[in-house]
Amino acid sequence: MKRQVDRYGVMGYPVSHSRSPIIHRLFALQTGQNISYELLPVAPGELRSAIREFGEKGGKGLNITVPHKTAALDVVDQLSERATRAGAVNTLVFQDGEIFGDNTDGVGLLRDLTRNLGLHLASLRILILGAGGATRGILGPLLAAGPESVTIANRTVEKARVLAADFSHLGEVTACRFKDVPAADYGLVINATSAGLKGETPPWPRAAITPDTFCYDLSYGLTPTPFSRWARECGAREAVLGWGMLVEQAAESFHLWRGVRPDTRPVLRQLSISAS
Ligand code: ATR
Repeated sequence: MKRQVDRYGVMGYPVSHSRSPIIHRLFALQTGQNISYELLPVAPGELRSAIREFGEKGGKGLNITVPHKTAALDVVDQLSERATRAGAVNTLVFQDGEIFGDNTDGVGLLRDLTRNLGLHLASLRILILGAGGATRGILGPLLAAGPESVTIANRTVEKARVLAADFSHLGEVTACRFKDVPAADYGLVINATSAGLKGETPPWPRAAITPDTFCYDLSYGLTPTPFSRWARECGAREAVLGWGMLVEQAAESFHLWRGVRPDTRPVLRQLSISAS
């Protein structure tokens, strides 16, 4: 008898550039899971009906990506605490006629920073550049790791202030403009702006980077990003792109869906090789 293939996919707009299908196919091969994973372009305004239809046709799970991560909050029946805190959903599980929404982005970043890159976040001073959805998604897990402080710097300082206020119960979080970033030994500087996607290099604070600073760009690409180039020019200890976060958040989604945790190292190696 032919084994049932369980359907998964990623909804976004546009979505053709997504690496999720290759990552999940590699996970499935590695763990012997019989799944399919499709690219599903869904225009804004059609998200609700597309998600419902996918579930009604027997689909088991979805990833949700740009620009739908916030809109998907309203489509789910149940929401995890970390998705509520992030104000965004990147993973849906269809089970017993209900849709469960979760967010694996933050934990994906944490796993990459701590396990793959060997950073000890406790007692570190962290600077986050940007105060949009990406920053909201990572603040909870970062603060849970117990850093000494988190500073959020943003072009529009009001947005940074709102985030700092929303998360201040979890740790020491402050907000400022790029030009007002306090001098401190930042162990980790994270670029969470979308400036690089537009090829822009904002006036990031050069004084924040020392030879001890580890720089991490949430964006990834086939070539160095504007932020990683800038960080190297400033003399950072290292400047890393977000490939590891991408693979780790996918592994967490895969675990939610299939109950098995893939080994991310060979997959990350394969992706990085094809990216270099
Ligand atoms: P995301 O969900 O990727 O975080 P977003 O919510 O649109 O996307 O937020 C984009 C972030 O990148 C914001 O912090 C934005 O700064 P503003 O809040 O001032 O708009 C930042 N950003 C984008 N382009 C930028 C640029 N050219 N210079 C500085 N910051 C930029």
